[in-house]
Amino acid sequence: MSRRIILLPMPFQGHINPMMQLGSILHSRGFAISIIHTQYNSPDPSKYPHFTFHPIPDGVSEDSQASKGGDILRVLHLINTDCVPLFRDCLGKLLSIHDDIACVITDAIIYSSQAVAENLGVKRIALRTSSVCSFLAFATLPLLREKGFYSDDTLDSRREDPVPELPPLKVKDVLGIKIQNMDVTLKVVCDMVEGTKKASGLIFNTFQDLEGSDLANLHDLFRLPTFPIGPFHKFFSAASSSLLTQDRSSVSWLDTQTTSSVLYVSFGSLAAMDERDLTEVAWGLANSMQPFLWAVRPGLVQGSQWLESLPNGFLEVISERGYIVKWTPQQEVLSHPAVGGFWTHSGWNSILESVCEGVPMICSSCFGDQMVNSRYINDVWKLGIKLEDGFKREEIELAIRKIMLHREGQEIRGKLLCLKEKIDSASSTSLDALSDFISSLKYSGDYSSALV
Ligand code: UDX
Repeated sequence: MSRRIILLPMPFQGHINPMMQLGSILHSRGFAISIIHTQYNSPDPSKYPHFTFHPIPDGVSEDSQASKGGDILRVLHLINTDCVPLFRDCLGKLLSIHDDIACVITDAIIYSSQAVAENLGVKRIALRTSSVCSFLAFATLPLLREKGFYSDDTLDSRREDPVPELPPLKVKDVLGIKIQNMDVTLKVVCDMVEGTKKASGLIFNTFQDLEGSDLANLHDLFRLPTFPIGPFHKFFSAASSSLLTQDRSSVSWLDTQTTSSVLYVSFGSLAAMDERDLTEVAWGLANSMQPFLWAVRPGLVQGSQWLESLPNGFLEVISERGYIVKWTPQQEVLSHPAVGGFWTHSGWNSILESVCEGVPMICSSCFGDQMVNSRYINDVWKLGIKLEDGFKREEIELAIRKIMLHREGQEIRGKLLCLKEKIDSASSTSLDALSDFISSLKYSGDYSSALV
């Protein structure tokens, strides 16, 4: 008899994609999949006819500050407080209906779900949707804070200092510096780490050939059954969980461009910039003289509808050389032969998608895991170039030329091809182990009393 797994995604694009992909992977391994999801940023059930869906109110949709986007901390808070009792009720109902439930898999950032699972006697596996290296950095935060790395009065002056516990990270890489609510941010990160430690297992969207040594460090620190079964999109594309409509004209435009000539630019689903940064980005792109495809998400500049914040004269200068859309079918774009480089905000899904297609990266970073990811891309894996100084048109222009035209870009491309071959020929050992592990889990609660 097939066992059932209950999934609870965090309702952000970069978290929904890997959770839905994981659901598809486990479904292909014979598990029945039920999704408990918030109404806010709800996945589209019609794209997954083989899953069952259970919407819960979440407190986010009704909260104007959180639902209009941009206030990530508030959404995280609401999900971990208001939403969790409703998750408990829904999970209790499912436990009373199905006697085949093996476990819940919830996003590591929904740390409150650990206590709910324990209380109902069902095992929880945490899915951490980002890199192991950034998770290890987060796990070290309490120690770094104790050592005075993140006190308000010294933070700015120490931004370039190395963090001896986490080479090659600098102080500015671990949490960023422009943090407005440092205490709240630290609490969320620490609660996530602590909640994860109590889980029965941990899934990462990563792979040994990329993060082998960090996975070993993680194992020493956490001693948890850990399953690095990524990259998930190698099995199932993220296209069906896209919250925005993917503009396919971007692919038609790429069809008209020559091989490896186009820089693809996207800053993901949450990162925001001010008008000054946007101006630097725009002139950096224009001055590089390279063709580019730019996904400018509405809201990239907070409060703007779409392109009205672009500097005067920019669209005329780039003319046919640049193509701008709101949102692309990113995986397809990255696999297009015309794409020769990717300027990314260093979100983990974007990085994995670029690595799998062998596309060298230029890395910016705005918040959370992005600073650690970009430092590793530049200093450890050497798969791209990190922009060290925010958004400065001269630095941008230089990085674009290096990636698209110079030997540096060629060398990175060579390294990526080796990695791509390893990904393509990787065994399914970790996934087999995860399937066996889930099948072995037992429900220790009482089905009849789960419903309260
Ligand atoms: C967020 C955080 O920003 C990131 O740091 C963390 O690692 C995951 O959660 P997000 O900003 O959405 O993620 O970036 P990313 O992780 O790169 O995910 C974006 C997803 O949207 C990717 O799967 C990408 O393929 C997709 N996408 C992006 C599109 O489909 N079209 C686009 O135009 C841009």
